[in-house]
Amino acid sequence: MSHRIKIKALLTGELTGTEVTVKGWVRAFRQNRFIALNDGSTNNNIQIVVDFENTDPALLKRITFGAAISVIGEMVPSLGSGQKVEVNATTIEILGDCDPEEFPLQPKKQTLEFLREKAHLRFRTSTFGSIFRLRNTLAFAVHKFFNEKGFVYLHTPIITASDAEGAGEMFRVTTFDAQKPPLNDAGEVDYKQDFFGKATNLTVSGQLEGELGAMALSDIYTFGPTFRAENSNTTRHLAEFWMIEPEMAFYDLNDNMDLAEEMLKYLIAYALEHNREDIEFLTQRLLDEEKQKPQAERSEMTLLDKLQFCLDNDFQRLTYTEAIEILKDSNHNKKKKFQYLIEGWGADLQSEHERYLVEKHFKKPVILTDYPKDIKSFYMRLNEDDKTVRAMDILFPGIGEIIGGSQREERYDKLTQRMDEMGVPKDELWWYLDTRRFGACEHAGFGLGFERLVLFVTGMGNIRDVIPFPRAPKTAEF
Ligand code: 4AD
Ligand code: MG
Repeated sequence: MSHRIKIKALLTGELTGTEVTVKGWVRAFRQNRFIALNDGSTNNNIQIVVDFENTDPALLKRITFGAAISVIGEMVPSLGSGQKVEVNATTIEILGDCDPEEFPLQPKKQTLEFLREKAHLRFRTSTFGSIFRLRNTLAFAVHKFFNEKGFVYLHTPIITASDAEGAGEMFRVTTFDAQKPPLNDAGEVDYKQDFFGKATNLTVSGQLEGELGAMALSDIYTFGPTFRAENSNTTRHLAEFWMIEPEMAFYDLNDNMDLAEEMLKYLIAYALEHNREDIEFLTQRLLDEEKQKPQAERSEMTLLDKLQFCLDNDFQRLTYTEAIEILKDSNHNKKKKFQYLIEGWGADLQSEHERYLVEKHFKKPVILTDYPKDIKSFYMRLNEDDKTVRAMDILFPGIGEIIGGSQREERYDKLTQRMDEMGVPKDELWWYLDTRRFGACEHAGFGLGFERLVLFVTGMGNIRDVIPFPRAPKTAEF
């Protein structure tokens, strides 16, 4: 039989008694007899039993950690205790040698920092195998969730001439020679002569275009790469990350929160159901890592418990104003344990505050609503009080903000007034404003940072470890 069978399928034992072909990379070779082989279909290795007395010693020497091999043999019940089945090899072929002297990976635990520098090879470790299988499952589940609800997957542009969030932290896209761009009479760079005839950037969000789609298709979502040139060297920020942005016509803020909570629970439940082994492996990894820490600093819950806990509990919903009261009166604030003390209403919340609310106060996911208008984007719907907007942020344990969203300002007058107040150019966004002129309606949406979700589900501590090739300040290798 020459058709290759994946190891995940072999390990079910269904093919016991038949001849199989299996291909993969050597994870270990003991006593010249037992090969642990992995092909990435599961974290578990299949054991290959080598008849070393009848095998060319030159071939045996080439079965090294990292080598790619092909094996033909019989699937048999295993005599050893570590596995149910194994393959008795009749033919072994070396597909790609791997010189142990040169190979950067070692058959032992290596630090995540070291592996980040070897991101081209780290897929070959158990930890990263689990992470990227989970990432795949979660991406698939996102599409499944929205598809089941009748949402339209809308591709919004990556190159844009508008700054959606008014954040001003964008990557310029140009074909100009950086040394000598054409200048206009005023001596400024003349973007009229650039490729698109205007200054363009990589998008920070597909929301504004998503809203256009929702004003006809009712329910849409985007799922694509977004780019932010903020110089945030944190464990939660990337310069290139993937965002899921649903936008729903005829939704208010409560509908928006309900959908977001349902979606997060669906995604976590889907991962638990379909990648249980990977989550169990990462749970154990975290337990081992925590053994190094003093008792007081260890998590109260395992990764598995944490995920289950999220499914079993309603998220705590409260307003920004209520949250500020809690924070202001907290012992943490009184004892000046926050780096940024909460003095009063109006301040933006730092991640230390978000995490205090989630991890110390409520001990569950939190949805904060109705933020001061001055710390949120121009497009959020103004409340009656004229001070707050219909924003919502979802805060997760260990992560902080995982979702940011709002009910949108659909009233033309209010929207243009906010744009003027905030210095958002109305002429550039004429097409956005048109939706408020022609058949405007109540609508809402949110953005889920995909890597933050993957961080949560894998229990990893650094966002650079849940995207294959991270882009961050001074980091664009591979
Ligand atoms: O809160 P943000 O900036 O919201 C928006 O972009 C809206 N347009 C979304 C919408 O309403 N359609 O970003 C949304 C989420 C954050 O909650 C966070 O999870 C993630 O995107 N995010 C980042 N993830 C990784 N690296 C960064 N630099 C991120 N910035 C935001
Ligand atoms: Mg936000």
